[in-house]
Amino acid sequence: MKFARQLRLAVAALAALAAFPAAAALSEDDQGCLSCHAQEGLKKNLGKGESLPLHVQGDEFAKSVHGELGCAACHSDVEAKKHPGAGKKISSAREYGVAKVEVCRLCHEDKAKLFDGSIHASTLKQGNLWAPVCTDCHGSHAVRAKAAQEPMNGISCRKCHDDIFDAYAGSMHGLARSKAGQVRAPICVDCHRAHDVSPAATGTRLRDACLGCHAGAVAAHEKWLPNTRTHLEVVSCPACHAPASQKRVDLRLYDPATKQRMSDQGGQSLDAKALWDLLRGVNREGAPAKATLIGRLEVRTGAEAHQLTDKTKAIKDCVTCHKQGADAFQNVTISIIGPDGRPVRYEAQKEVLSNPASVDAVGDFYVIGGTRIKLLDALLALAVLAGVSAPVGHLLLRRLLRSKPRHPGAGSDTAN
Ligand code: HEC
Ligand code: HEC
Ligand code: HEC
Ligand code: HEC
Ligand code: HEC
Ligand code: HEC
Ligand code: HEC
Ligand code: HEC
Ligand code: HEC
Repeated sequence: MKFARQLRLAVAALAALAAFPAAAALSEDDQGCLSCHAQEGLKKNLGKGESLPLHVQGDEFAKSVHGELGCAACHSDVEAKKHPGAGKKISSAREYGVAKVEVCRLCHEDKAKLFDGSIHASTLKQGNLWAPVCTDCHGSHAVRAKAAQEPMNGISCRKCHDDIFDAYAGSMHGLARSKAGQVRAPICVDCHRAHDVSPAATGTRLRDACLGCHAGAVAAHEKWLPNTRTHLEVVSCPACHAPASQKRVDLRLYDPATKQRMSDQGGQSLDAKALWDLLRGVNREGAPAKATLIGRLEVRTGAEAHQLTDKTKAIKDCVTCHKQGADAFQNVTISIIGPDGRPVRYEAQKEVLSNPASVDAVGDFYVIGGTRIKLLDALLALAVLAGVSAPVGHLLLRRLLRSKPRHPGAGSDTAN
């Protein structure tokens, strides 16, 4: 019986290896595994119509960075003598794959730690099994060295962020990158990094990445753009450099004490009521400011953030933004940081922005939390409520209108 099995294996192994010459460098043990697993179409039935493909391409594995390590380096739980045996219970192919990448950690602890801090890892922790793990970007049995990855076709981010890839590919960076020999222009990981990918609309990492390569950019803008530093802080780079993009103003809630963006504690979404309480607390007479709002002009969609053009097409005309009713100010959101680290945006009404066209009026607006703009606060709260929850908003709206002063600074702020 034992002999028969070995013979069967040996014959199957020879057949498999003939088809995959590169696999000949593999150890005998590995060839034993491949005698079954090199068979195309081999799969494990998981029930409910799902199956786990068990086919492993021997030659690809032999050529991979892990070829020399052998199967057992990652599959030490497979006991050749008892395998396949009764078989393990596996509930879904994806769950199996996600659990299995824990082995990568054994030898690449540094990368695993970086990954643990990423938006991808926190999305996974939130229960979204489709967030990428090591093998989604590297594969499992055909892992190649970094240097072997092609500049454009090898972009692993593409399979999940295809809309963004398309936008990027048409940008001046993408076009420059796809020209043969041009690899100075950035791809995804040059701006976002590979493992510790962070939410796009938080922090200054992306801007720092731009300025890291374009060290002369601040000085170049200073030649024509007054208040350059303010502009580069409150207007995102793509808002001008993706000129066709639609814009929005995102009002971000900050905690003035820690200077951090506010996040919802407890891991639940901040609902309309909680947001209302928060905003109401902002400017109550005499109360210490609990929140500060800082506005930022940005593009509306992730794809548009990547439609960067060369500098001749960038928005230079001041009145694009500095005029009554400018398009750029027609969409307003208010955001806090959600449980996965990404902003949760609440639609607000554009009236919140009062009259941003006048530069004089704009100044205060972007930092709410002082005492001069109570009316704006009221409008803001109303707009948020109207946008978030109509029933609650309706009731409070009438109460608020009765008790709020008409002009900034006039009358007293009732504790509404
Ligand atoms: C560097 C680590 C590593 C090595 C070495 C390795 N594997 Fe895997 N293997 C994995 C991971 C990770 C998975 C889970 C992949 C998935 O499904 O997402 C896996 C899954 C499998 C599966 C289940 C089917 C599948 O593809 O998901 C089989 C069968 C398998 N490996 C066989 C082998 C054989 C045979 C070898 C040697 C020729 C080998 N493995 C070498 C990491 C490795
Ligand atoms: C005699 C053929 C055969 C050989 C040799 C063999 N396997 Fe398998 N393997 C299977 C079959 C069949 C299954 C599916 C078992 C089931 O349905 O539960 C399987 C399943 C697996 C799985 C999927 C997870 C699991 O445990 O069910 C992995 C990983 C795996 N084999 C790795 C290996 C490795 C590594 C070797 C070499 C040490 C090896 N296999 C040798 C036939 C084989
Ligand atoms: C979202 C995609 C993605 C995920 C997830 C990912 N990687 Fe990477 N990894 C990359 C890319 C792209 C590179 C190329 C490096 C670069 O250009 O910075 C890379 C590079 C590497 C390198 C070689 C780096 C070097 O410069 O020496 C290792 C090792 C590695 N990854 C391991 C892992 C491990 C282990 C995991 C899981 C904990 C993982 N990766 C998860 C995309 C990913
Ligand atoms: C038993 C140890 C071990 C395990 C487990 C392991 N690796 Fe590796 N890995 C290595 C070694 C050794 C190299 C080759 C190192 C080198 O050339 O710098 C390597 C190289 C790599 C590289 C290429 C690095 C480069 O220089 O570009 C990547 C990517 C990689 N591994 C990803 C993974 C992933 C993903 C997993 C899990 C599926 C994994 N490794 C599991 C040991 C391991
Ligand atoms: C297997 C699918 C998958 C792959 C591959 C992948 N991602 Fe993601 N990515 C996700 C998911 C899921 C999220 C969570 C947010 C969502 O649902 O859009 C996410 C989120 C992000 C975010 C944050 C988005 C935000 O709203 O702030 C960035 C940035 C990002 N990915 C960049 C990358 C980069 C760069 C790569 C390649 C190195 C990559 N991703 C590869 C699935 C993937
Ligand atoms: C890895 C380095 C790198 C990073 C990061 C980077 N760029 Fe570039 N950028 C380049 C290179 C190289 C070119 C020239 C491409 C070419 O040859 O056409 C370029 C071109 C440009 C141009 C066109 C300049 C002109 O003369 O027309 C603009 C505008 C630009 N980048 C803006 C940005 C912005 C905005 C970011 C961040 C979101 C950014 N870049 C991030 C390297 C980088
Ligand atoms: C208010 C709109 C606006 C914003 C915001 C903006 N840019 Fe520009 N940028 C321009 C315009 C317009 C030009 C072309 C100026 C000219 O030469 O006529 C330009 C030129 C550039 C150039 C080419 C500089 C050179 O040497 O000629 C780079 C690189 C660049 N911008 C990067 C950035 C980066 C990075 C950011 C974000 C930190 C940014 N820009 C934000 C409008 C803007
Ligand atoms: C030149 C730098 C740069 C490159 C290259 C780049 N991105 Fe981005 N990415 C950005 C910026 C800037 C944003 C917008 C950040 C913000 O909201 O201000 C962004 C946003 C994102 C987001 C969040 C989208 C959303 O819905 O909010 C994802 C996901 C993303 N990028 C993935 C990718 C992928 C995948 C690639 C490669 C195909 C890529 N990026 C290439 C700079 C870059
Ligand atoms: C893409 C939109 C956009 C363009 C183009 C633009 N600005 Fe601005 N600008 C803004 C925003 C948003 C602010 C908000 C500043 C604040 O109050 O915090 C601002 C602020 C200002 C300020 C006040 C700065 C301060 O600290 O209070 C001045 C002055 C100004 N811009 C002048 C200009 C001039 C002159 C041009 C053309 C050369 C121009 N802007 C182009 C969006 C733009």
